[in-house]
Amino acid sequence: MRVLLTGGAGYIGSHTAVVLLEEGHDVAVLDDLSNSHVEALNRVEQLTGKSIDFLEGDLADAQLVQRYFDENNFDAVIHLAGLKAVGESVEQPTRYYQTNLSTTLTLLDAMRKSDVQRLVFSSSATVYGDPQSPLISEEHPVGAGIQNPYGWSKLMNEQIIRDTARAWPELSVVNLRYFNPVGAHSSGRIGEDPSGIPNNLMPFISQVAVGKRLQLAVFGQDYDTRDGTGVRDYIHVMDLAEGHVAALAKTTPGVETYNLGTGTGTSVLEAVQTFEHVSGKQIPYEVKARREGDLATVIADSHRAGEKLGWQTSRTFEDACRDAWKWQVQNPDGYGPSR
Ligand code: NAD
Ligand code: UD1
Repeated sequence: MRVLLTGGAGYIGSHTAVVLLEEGHDVAVLDDLSNSHVEALNRVEQLTGKSIDFLEGDLADAQLVQRYFDENNFDAVIHLAGLKAVGESVEQPTRYYQTNLSTTLTLLDAMRKSDVQRLVFSSSATVYGDPQSPLISEEHPVGAGIQNPYGWSKLMNEQIIRDTARAWPELSVVNLRYFNPVGAHSSGRIGEDPSGIPNNLMPFISQVAVGKRLQLAVFGQDYDTRDGTGVRDYIHVMDLAEGHVAALAKTTPGVETYNLGTGTGTSVLEAVQTFEHVSGKQIPYEVKARREGDLATVIADSHRAGEKLGWQTSRTFEDACRDAWKWQVQNPDGYGPSR
């Protein structure tokens, strides 16, 4: 298949590109490089020995996007482009809504005009808001308790896509709700390259281990969990990437939604211990106050993806830590300073 990967130069996109190319698909990446480096795509090409068509630009630019659709014969789209920093979305709500909604609207219009009928959309477990139970299936209600514009923009995207599918019955969509993506390609050549101070746990731990940051702040040790720290479902980014490629096989019209997680929870202190074990480095930490909006436990019930997509995870949390560490050691400054 010829697949358009929007946001394909980013963290999840670059790993997804590897799996797509390895499975014999043709890949075109549309990205404005606002949060990524073209070097990630060079490395994907080196890793796979295959080439990527890089279409640089803003996915919200309707004229440009239509030109790319006119010039290419895409069979399917995996849509990952967007802004993703939760805290930043609270400070800059209009920018987040503008980008995360206009990109999807432009894409859907171009797909319809060019009759590209397959879409895989990158959603998030954040749409479940404040979950009623620690183990979350796709049947869990969405919306109630979402704390930030980023989360709302994901839910709004799902709604926009659902309404579009109602008006265009041939459209086939898979919404993938990711839990916590972590790790890197096992080569250590591509990985997560956050700009500035990482907001998320695993990139922060990596940077402490490599000596870029002094210590980790553990956000709360008074949760109702086995050691008092927050428990999350960390999924290896290569397992996640394989989930996208499995989702491409769906051809039936309509919208399907799948959680992508492991079904297993890891606490903050367990994450620290595992990272210390694989890196041989000490991770100094200090327990601080809870971070506003954080939940005690969030774990995916991913049975549906197993049954319907034939997908399952094959990598452990320890594998993810080892691969993240390899990436961090080989690339202490990520892909480099320019962005
Ligand atoms: P990322 O920032 O590394 O990748 C997003 C890519 O989109 C970047 O390369 C960026 O340059 C590009 N982009 C942003 N705005 C664009 C625009 N207007 N036009 C073209 N390209 C644009 O993020 P990621 O972690 O790879 O996440 C990919 C997707 O997965 C995002 O939609 C994110 O919301 C979603 N997601 C991520 C996580 C996570 O923890 N990483 C969790 C759940 C969902
Ligand atoms: C965060 C986002 C979520 C997004 C997800 C993507 C918030 C409130 N939620 O989820 O919307 O979909 O990232 O990966 O930002 N922790 C520390 N110290 C740190 C960082 C984190 O103790 O420096 C703890 C947190 O309290 C939490 C766990 O580590 O218990 C994981 O945090 P994080 O990696 O930020 O992910 P989420 O909060 O699950």
